[in-house]
Amino acid sequence: MSIALVILAAGKGTRMNSDLPKVLHEIAGAPMLVHAMKAGATLMPERTVVVAGHGIAAVTKAAKKYDADAIVVDQTEQNGTGHAVMVTRDALQGFAGDVIVLYGDTPFIQPETLERMVAARANNAVVVLGFQADPTEKYGRLIMHNDQLSEIVEFSDATDEQRDVTFCNSGVMLAKSDTLFDLLDATNNDNASGEYYLTDVVKVAQQKGLTTTAISCDASETMGVNSRAHLAEAEAAFQSRARATLLDDGVTLVDPSSVYLSLDTVIGRDSVIEPNVFFGPEVTIESGTRIRAFSHLEGAHVSRGGTVGPYARLRPGAELAEDVHIGNFVEIKNAIIDEGAKVNHLSYIGDASVGEKTNIGAGTITCNYDGVMKHKTIIGKNAFIGSNTMLVAPVTVGDDAMTASGSVVTKTVENGALAIARAQQVSKPGMARKLFEMLRAKKAKMAKGSK
Ligand code: UD1
Ligand code: CA
Repeated sequence: MSIALVILAAGKGTRMNSDLPKVLHEIAGAPMLVHAMKAGATLMPERTVVVAGHGIAAVTKAAKKYDADAIVVDQTEQNGTGHAVMVTRDALQGFAGDVIVLYGDTPFIQPETLERMVAARANNAVVVLGFQADPTEKYGRLIMHNDQLSEIVEFSDATDEQRDVTFCNSGVMLAKSDTLFDLLDATNNDNASGEYYLTDVVKVAQQKGLTTTAISCDASETMGVNSRAHLAEAEAAFQSRARATLLDDGVTLVDPSSVYLSLDTVIGRDSVIEPNVFFGPEVTIESGTRIRAFSHLEGAHVSRGGTVGPYARLRPGAELAEDVHIGNFVEIKNAIIDEGAKVNHLSYIGDASVGEKTNIGAGTITCNYDGVMKHKTIIGKNAFIGSNTMLVAPVTVGDDAMTASGSVVTKTVENGALAIARAQQVSKPGMARKLFEMLRAKKAKMAKGSK
């Protein structure tokens, strides 16, 4: 059965106290919306429809960045979850398969859970995802009769007896597209909040003699984010799960709780991650690498056998080939560092390429920015860049070339050449001693005068 994904993301999220639409707040470096889209993507949806309202331009941008084919529908007035699904009707025109509804602010639904819902659909017209909650929580209650779901009652509309039910509605629902819209057409907004409730389709389905059921998942999956405090909890929950997965996958985390991962972080087996390492978005680390303490990586690729840090920063476009060494206080941005090259101390390498086995001395800087434009530095293989070389881009240093330390290199250095670009040293015999004597005498005179 083909699937369409509908993600509800129009709400303002007042309790976030933010100018940013709620679903764009990030967990593990990715908007919550993307977490939900990624979970749904495992069902290989034929169409993905995002219902947006507050901050629709920004929501559209984020949705399309993750999935260029996503359709964003405008729900200008948020008249409830039922209404939100109703506005997707045009976007789902001509789609005859099943629709699964997810919430953009419920980022942790697991693909396996969605698969179980799909399996339950074989015998039921409507499948709802529930979880066990504390009776004080104000979720909609799932009223079950044997394995049939007879009704979902919103907390505000529930009797005391119904409020004692702890099996609660996550909001995730699965039904055939035309069934869902027919059922929604039969709902009304005659309830405590004057909204169209998606949950009412269950009651209507039962009245029409359709079978409806609910399956259960762990409450950690249905955790919704409504405030910054929830966001912080969600981040912590994500991090502990992601760390545990890496450990299972054969990655050593010396101090797991101090390592921060992104939704898309990939780290190969037998890599060692030392304490206090931060992985921003789009980092891939191959097997057998070591990322030393206090390093910050983002948009970077580290190949097999590489070592990075301590205190290194890899920025977007840092591409490290096998066995590359990046040392302490080194920043790499938009640069290819070829096999076996070393940048061990206190350097900035940006908009550059560094050839195989080249050694970059301490304090080397690619001066890539002239205040208006960025320029490239190209360094060949087996070269030796002396300490404290300023490479004023655009500039090329050839294979097997050298630069003298302290050089300011502004012109091409040919293959095999040595570039010296600094003032000549002048030595004056005895001059230092004379200077010392003069200065000490001056100091003594001043001390006397102040008595
Ligand atoms: C909803 C469910 C409730 C369930 C709870 C789980 C209904 C009527 N109630 O309640 O049974 O226990 O979720 O968290 O469905 N949204 C829109 N447009 C709207 C209204 C909502 O896009 O017009 C989106 C929101 O942005 C949010 C989601 O739908 O992502 C849920 O809406 P919310 O108002 O939080 O629903 P609850 O009242 O919490
Ligand atoms: Ca909610």
